[in-house]
Amino acid sequence: MTIKTNAPLPIKVETGLKYSWCSCGFSQAMPLCDNSHRELSHKKSFKFIAEETGTIHLCGCSETQSPPYCDNSNNCRRS
Ligand code: FES
Repeated sequence: MTIKTNAPLPIKVETGLKYSWCSCGFSQAMPLCDNSHRELSHKKSFKFIAEETGTIHLCGCSETQSPPYCDNSNNCRRS
């Protein structure tokens, strides 16, 4: 079962550290990858390096065309 949500999800990141955004929607750690895709999907995670320390919002629906960020592809709820 996927854990997708139709809204961007916040995570705290640190400058220079590498993160993996979940592109399959099966991760139990959304919006970050927990390697569930290895058994449940053909999709791979999207890796990125944080440019600054702070809270960023990543796509929670896995349908963005601008990974890992929400691009409103899914008429997303935004707060
Ligand atoms: S949450 Fe996925 S495109 Fe907005």
